[in-house]
Amino acid sequence: MEHNLPVNVREYQELAKKALPKMHYDYINGGAEDEYTLRENIAAYGRIMLRPRVLVDVSKIDMSTNLLGYDIPSPIIVAPTGAHKLANPEGEVATSRAAAACNTIMHIQVLSFGSSCKIQEVAASCDAIRFFQLYIYKRRDVSATLVRRAESLGFKAIVLTVDTPVLGRREADIRNKMVFPPSPNLEGLMSFNDDLGTGGGSKLERFASETLDPSLSWKDVEWLKSITSLPILLKGVVTAEDARKAVEAGVAGVIVSNHGGRQLDYAPPAIAALEEVVKAVAGAVPVLVDGGIRRGTDVFKALALGAKAVMVGRPVFYGLAARGEAGAKHVIEMLNKELELAMALCGCRSVAEVTRRHVLTEGDRFR
Ligand code: FNR
Repeated sequence: MEHNLPVNVREYQELAKKALPKMHYDYINGGAEDEYTLRENIAAYGRIMLRPRVLVDVSKIDMSTNLLGYDIPSPIIVAPTGAHKLANPEGEVATSRAAAACNTIMHIQVLSFGSSCKIQEVAASCDAIRFFQLYIYKRRDVSATLVRRAESLGFKAIVLTVDTPVLGRREADIRNKMVFPPSPNLEGLMSFNDDLGTGGGSKLERFASETLDPSLSWKDVEWLKSITSLPILLKGVVTAEDARKAVEAGVAGVIVSNHGGRQLDYAPPAIAALEEVVKAVAGAVPVLVDGGIRRGTDVFKALALGAKAVMVGRPVFYGLAARGEAGAKHVIEMLNKELELAMALCGCRSVAEVTRRHVLTEGDRFR
């Protein structure tokens, strides 16, 4: 059986497509409207070339890095994606074990608010460094309760998603009348009316419009800072202007992301927005990026353009759907191995040795 294992993320995607009901595959895989940003997230990586250096002794490659004071064995992190039970009955517990198993306890899993397992259950499942992803709800008390819960369970940071004051228009979900399983983490905290009535749409859309606060603003970042001492990372920044404001607001990190092309269609591909944000932040805080990473060379390109670490969303979901915990683990391992290979073939023995000179972007060619 082992020799039939998928050899890359794309093959896992094919298996996931076969394994999942269409509604669930579409939910995981889909993006907003024309899905231009979704496609470009991946395509933009394909337009960046590598500039390898040769005759460097690459017999030892060290991929480790440090994020917010935590040593991690590789810069690849699991992104927050909701409802892993859609892919596998063990849900986020399986993902969490997969992430931790990939390198002892040091992998970081960012656990989504929409986790289909209770966060208590995930926290108890294995040792790992975990960050908690938060949305700001109309009911601030619910957001505050979730933050306190994450703090008491030993989560190390809050990832505040700021690209979702309202939900993007995901047409596949609307067509499929996607039923989003209610998160056990919101049980007893918030009820909502998910009756679609005659209005159509998806239940996820209905849930979002009932609960998310479109008045989300910089004041809420201040509010969040006032209720927690955990470091806060802002997820969903794609411009220099907002990156500068984020640093002024005292956040601990910025995540360049367009939500995997699920929110604003025609937002810039994540890797194309990275450098502008890195320049604006000017080393004040770490900058991470997610969206479209399917290869170790993609991770390498992100590091070269200034990312401290990257997050992967759908690839882990594909692994989980295809082969449960073992599949999720294999996906992370494959990406780690591919990154190691890319570093070796580019003549970089550590992540610190990966520099801007190792990539050629479209912009560079016109310079
Ligand atoms: C997401 N994403 C997401 N982001 C977030 O902040 N909170 C969430 O609950 C979710 N849920 C979610 C579900 C699914 C099925 C997907 C695919 C994505 C976005 C996610 O964190 C990340 O930004 C993207 O997935 C990165 O793009 P790739 O790696 O999927 O291309």
